[in-house]
Amino acid sequence: MRGRTTGVQALTSIAIRAVSRSFATVDGTLPVLDRVSFEVPERSVVALIGPNGCGKSTLLRIVAGLLRPAAGQVELDGAAVTGPDPRIGFVFQEPRLLPWRDSAGNIAYPLELAGWSRARRDDQVRDLLGLVGLREFAGARPHELSGGMRQRVSIARALAMGPSVLLLDEPFSALDALTRERFNAELLHLWERTETTILLVTHSISEAIFLADRVVVLSPRPGRVVADLPVGIDRASREANVDTLALGQTATLIRRHLAGATDDPTPAELTAELHRRQRERPVRIEDLGEPAWFDPFGPESGT
Ligand SMILES: Nc1ncnc2c1ncn2[C@@H]1O[C@H](COP(=O)(O)OP(=O)(O)OP(=O)(O)O)[C@@H](O)[C@H]1O
Ligand SMILES: [Mg+2]
Repeated sequence: MRGRTTGVQALTSIAIRAVSRSFATVDGTLPVLDRVSFEVPERSVVALIGPNGCGKSTLLRIVAGLLRPAAGQVELDGAAVTGPDPRIGFVFQEPRLLPWRDSAGNIAYPLELAGWSRARRDDQVRDLLGLVGLREFAGARPHELSGGMRQRVSIARALAMGPSVLLLDEPFSALDALTRERFNAELLHLWERTETTILLVTHSISEAIFLADRVVVLSPRPGRVVADLPVGIDRASREANVDTLALGQTATLIRRHLAGATDDPTPAELTAELHRRQRERPVRIEDLGEPAWFDPFGPESGT
């Protein structure tokens, strides 16, 4: 299995092709995802944003092979996903730790299942505990940890096997603002080091812009892709300008799509317009916040 025992990372791409899914409920059938299609090219970061209940977690479970789509399919490197895949690391929306195991034991769990030797496991667990800032809590059980700490253990566990795909379901929502910023930066450093392909669910527009190459916006349930927007700001500038990012052109567009703006121009036209502008004049961080630049498509509609 690539990237698993050798420590050599393989690059993996994700293609989500016309995925639909509904759930049977007492009131009948609940359509949750409606022909969702987008790609996460190898070694890129895509943020998925959308209102509560629009199917984001459901989609990540389908990508991870934990749930089957009713129609359409997900492909990793061109091959259909049919079940859980060791190339994927998943950070669930709720940490889902084993309550009887301490932090180190939870992080070591997938390594034990994969048959890593004790010494190798211990090394890996020590590194990961350091990465998530929990060395002093190696021996603490989940109930002895704060919500944010539990989430950090779950992030470390997802990284344990050196996955080439990371699926992150609002991984930072339980973290305080400063820790969250540090984790955002850490995630980018990790991504630079490991060549991971990342699909990240977030409700934070600035987090999406800070981390992602592209932002995919889903409609209210049943989730459909209403926009697939490039973030045309080079990464080096992003880190120094986290606060400014929330004001940018891309943020305006994401907000419009989240608000379901249907006035002219259409979402597809807006996306094309953004692509065109970014081709013609790449966004520089100094430009952000300029009033004339900030609202290139006219007054924002009722958001
Ligand atoms: N196993 C299930 N059985 C029945 N309904 C489900 C199941 N899983 C999810 N749903 C329903 O599917 C819809 C989408 O749920 P999902 O968790 O994917 O939303 P989400 O976009 O992740 O929302 P949030 O932003 O609140 O995390 C919800 O209405 C939820 O009630
Ligand atoms: Mg969710």
